Amino acid sequence: MKIAIINGPNLNLLGQRQPEIYGNEGFEGYFKSLQKAYSNVELEYFQSNLEGALVDAIHIFAKSCDGIVLNAAAYTHTSIAIADAVAAIKVPVIEVHISNVYAREVFRHHSYIAPYAAGIIAGLGLDGYKLAIEGLCKKN
Ligand code: DQA
Repeated sequence: MKIAIINGPNLNLLGQRQPEIYGNEGFEGYFKSLQKAYSNVELEYFQSNLEGALVDAIHIFAKSCDGIVLNAAAYTHTSIAIADAVAAIKVPVIEVHISNVYAREVFRHHSYIAPYAAGIIAGLGLDGYKLAIEGLCKKN
């Protein structure tokens, strides 16, 4: 079982960025704890601030992985290209948001990706990534 985690723009700043919303933990350290907790799963991690790089990553991981955990960050609310990439692939994609986007600004309430996602997790902090991995494991 191989799962890719793809993080979008500004998530490289987790731990420093608005800690009152996104917490104090950086993703690299958290990813190591995921690898330990799910040693039976081959986990890959990719982060980019660029829309096209995220589209490319979705295409590439769709060929090599059994599932994708995607936090497209702000592109969730703007990117038809990323939504089209998710719609184009066969492997299940779980959309994750660290914060409860529905309790925030109205522009965060709409996701272009959601109609093509196998599931959506929001507002549970970094635990959302764990739950997404577990959800994908149950699907395979
Ligand atoms: C986010 C929510 C988005 O609205 C925001 O632009 C992000 C992070 C989250 O994980 O809560 O960058 O996807």
